[in-house]
Amino acid sequence: MTAPIMTDDLAFAAAQVTARAAISAAKLVGRGDEKAADQAAVDAMRSALNEMPMKGRIVIGEGERDEAPMLYIGEEVGLGSGPAIDIALDPLEGTTLTAKAMSNALAVLALAPRGGLLHAPDTYMDKLAIGPGYDKDIVDLDAPAGDNVLKLAKARGVKPEDIGVCVLDRPRHAAIIESLRAVGCRVVLISDGDVAGVIYTTDPETGIDMYVGSGGAPEGVLAAAALKCVGGQFQGRLVFRNDDERRRAERIGVTDFKRRYALNDLASTDAIFAATGVTNGTLLGGVKGANGHVRTHSLVMNSATGTITELKTKAPRK
Ligand code: FBP
Repeated sequence: MTAPIMTDDLAFAAAQVTARAAISAAKLVGRGDEKAADQAAVDAMRSALNEMPMKGRIVIGEGERDEAPMLYIGEEVGLGSGPAIDIALDPLEGTTLTAKAMSNALAVLALAPRGGLLHAPDTYMDKLAIGPGYDKDIVDLDAPAGDNVLKLAKARGVKPEDIGVCVLDRPRHAAIIESLRAVGCRVVLISDGDVAGVIYTTDPETGIDMYVGSGGAPEGVLAAAALKCVGGQFQGRLVFRNDDERRRAERIGVTDFKRRYALNDLASTDAIFAATGVTNGTLLGGVKGANGHVRTHSLVMNSATGTITELKTKAPRK
């Protein structure tokens, strides 16, 4: 019998990786320098990944090899022995949030057995997500956002006013927001961070039932890995703004530009998802330091074991 790959030990190791990235990025909170904060998170995440006993391969990373010297797509990380793992990462999800000391910046990582995560190009993706407990395909990526709210309200036996929808606050979402306003639901506009936006739908305490709008395709895969662990539905479609983006997608194997991706197309096997707060947020507290110690708050989930853990750690500051 072969040893299981997606163990809770691997999941906790993933949370240590995001914690190290978050601690490094947190040193640059409020400095107005997105690049420096991102670089700090990248450096820390890369060193931490390289200490893990695995044959890791990055499928969602900081960019293509010629653009990103570290954590580029295809880079091999880990000690080179152990299980073959595919990795999706965003060392700092919310570079602007960090630079401006705003809420909800996270360090994020997803792991899956080789081939388990979609190689998504660095384009936009139209996304629609809801939490667990609904009939399959109750909402439809191609329907007006307001119609989807009416479906959710009916399924839950509540009024549309009782449904909360999270949307990235962008001019490109004007039609979506108008459609949501027309049915009278609560629209929660976020300035950045749609991985968290999708995860909110899985936690009734957030008051958010649906996430809709376009954001980064890589973030779509990370969010799908999280939903894989906690339940929920996701639909996505890549958005191409020009031929260069189409060529980039072709290079990594996309053939059908209009394909609608379901959750299992983005995260097709079991997955581990880990996130650590950089700044305070709805999902997680940010990194805090006092008296020579540093405290972190992480969420780590493993679909293979069904384990969901919230971790609060306090360690001497290095
Ligand atoms: P960064 O951390 O790379 O700045 O991404 C933040 C983010 O808000 C993502 O969560 C989201 O998917 C994407 O940017 C949206 O892109 P845009 O800012 O171009 O609308």
